[in-house]
Amino acid sequence: MNIIFIGDVVGQKSCANLREKLPKLKKQYDAKLVIVNGENSADGNGITPVTAKYLLDSGVDVVTTGNHCFRRKEMDAFYEESDIVLRPANYPDEVVGKGFTVLDFGSYSVAVINLLGTVYMQNLENPFYCVDRILEKISSKTIIVDFHAEATSEKRAMGHYLAGRVSAVLGTHTHVQTADEEILGGYTGYITDVGMTGVIDSVLGIRKDIIINNMLTGYPQRYEYAQGEQIICGVVMEINERTGVCSSIERIRC
Ligand code: FE2
Repeated sequence: MNIIFIGDVVGQKSCANLREKLPKLKKQYDAKLVIVNGENSADGNGITPVTAKYLLDSGVDVVTTGNHCFRRKEMDAFYEESDIVLRPANYPDEVVGKGFTVLDFGSYSVAVINLLGTVYMQNLENPFYCVDRILEKISSKTIIVDFHAEATSEKRAMGHYLAGRVSAVLGTHTHVQTADEEILGGYTGYITDVGMTGVIDSVLGIRKDIIINNMLTGYPQRYEYAQGEQIICGVVMEINERTGVCSSIERIRC
């Protein structure tokens, strides 16, 4: 089966661009499943029930998140209800929401796990131990991990740690697509960061003059999304749903 994973969608205009282009992408790659990191899908940061539903109504099957998952209080009830809009699994169990999901395709299933890095990020459960715990509970052959993390070293270490045990380890969060996609151990598709879905002429989707001014002065200024040409960044993977082996991973940037 072919699976598309789309990187961090920045703001509602980028959600709209994804909605417009997704049917063509799904057809082009014959994708059976689409996963999107939506933690920045709401204007003004975070994800809301409105943007989560918008992504799901656009043909997205699973929405993953990251360090901005709890920016909007109104998401708590949505996380509670939903099995397909995830928050990172390494929050404690008593925190609202689910960190992984298993999708039933009849004769096989696909699991999606959302993890948050802890290097230069929040001090949550070690994601390496966390994923081990989850893998003990999952019988799906096809397992996709969104590792939302800052440090390249932590992401590459996770890729090698899970090589041969999951179908893909896909990095998100930095909003910059890396060119290191590969198949680890002849089994696991890997990329350090799938990149951003947003305005390319920007700093991570935000107006570049605002970020430059922030860097020059240190004076905080309200972030505004950049306007201009939109891009969609992601990867498409070919995975044998019987064995879970990823045979190809290809970057999407369109
Ligand atoms: Fe993030």
